[in-house]
Amino acid sequence: MAEPITLSVIKADIGGYVGHSGMHPALMEAAQERLEFARRQGDLIDFHVTACGDDLGLVLTHTLGNDNEIIHKLAWQVFAECTDIAKELKLYGAGQDLLSDAFSGNMKGMGPGYAEMTFEERPAEPIIIFFADKTSAGAWNLPLYRMFADPFTTAGLVISPELHQGFCFVVLDVKENRTIELNAPEEIYDLLAYIGSPGRYTISQVYSRATGDIAAASSTQRLSLIAGKYVGKDDPVCIVRSQSQFPAVGEILEPFATPHLVEGWMRGSHHGPLMPVSVAQATPSRFDGPPRVIALGFQLAQGRLIGPRDMFDDPSFDEARHQANLIAEYLRRHGPFEPHRLPLADMEYTTLPQIGQKLEHRWRDGKDKEEPVAAF
Ligand code: 13P
Ligand code: 13P
Ligand code: MG
Ligand code: MG
Repeated sequence: MAEPITLSVIKADIGGYVGHSGMHPALMEAAQERLEFARRQGDLIDFHVTACGDDLGLVLTHTLGNDNEIIHKLAWQVFAECTDIAKELKLYGAGQDLLSDAFSGNMKGMGPGYAEMTFEERPAEPIIIFFADKTSAGAWNLPLYRMFADPFTTAGLVISPELHQGFCFVVLDVKENRTIELNAPEEIYDLLAYIGSPGRYTISQVYSRATGDIAAASSTQRLSLIAGKYVGKDDPVCIVRSQSQFPAVGEILEPFATPHLVEGWMRGSHHGPLMPVSVAQATPSRFDGPPRVIALGFQLAQGRLIGPRDMFDDPSFDEARHQANLIAEYLRRHGPFEPHRLPLADMEYTTLPQIGQKLEHRWRDGKDKEEPVAAF
């Protein structure tokens, strides 16, 4: 039996070019070189370096399993070395996502976001890897639900005997740090009761109920909950396996034809539509957005990454991009008003509370004023 392959997708914002809008090529070159060295040493089978907005993305294949210290340390070193270059170039927010000075054990709670899965490679193993910028963990809830539980998106749930048994969703409560498993289709109302609040509940994994195989894994880090203050966002990643006992490639991409609203635009403080774009167009510049998602398609061959194909680089997503622009335009007209701006409770980790503190002494009790007050 072939050795199981682990796919580790790890990303960090270690400095933006210009502002938070994009990635400087020098960081990608440095990452490429460092990972090529690791591949020649035998730690990796293969790798791919990408960027979505100001986030550097590493796709790594190996046989060392999930949460492996060697692999996570390697990614940490790549981010640390790229941070040095970012500092030299004075890129914006150099080292933004590296919340700790030194690496310890694995990446959990250290700032970079990651999703991993380990499986035996099938005779053909198509995978789609999504990266998003200007949003946060939870942005995948709606598309994952639609891929794996909605027959209006995934015809295979109705037509294919392998998909017909449905999928099991693992949902993480990010505040209480606990998980629940819910089965689709029987428990979809229970599932939606949670995942409809993506700021609190995020889908971390999906499994095939027919085979028990891992179907999807997403990053679930909430930086603000780790750091206790606003330190940038958790621009997330997600891995989805495709075909056979899983949805077809087109079923996996279909949910992104509707640019759903996500949190994370401008200062991590606004809602905006998630626009599916090519890698070249993953450069959010209008009001630092609107939020972007890219999809890299690979075929695995004994862990080798055959690809990527840039899946949203397709005119069939033009209408989604057009719609996203219309939604963005409409929301922008709300300026500093909710629901474009996030609700007050979600602004807790931004700099807004500092404004409230400054004005705190100006508040009086709620009685009608008896005396005329000095002009504002
Ligand atoms: P093929 O017949 O090319 O395998 O395509 C299967 C399919 O229907 C994908 O949607
Ligand atoms: P990043 O989290 O992508 O750095 O974006 C910060 C932001 O909110 C820019 O407006
Ligand atoms: Mg940034
Ligand atoms: Mg970012």
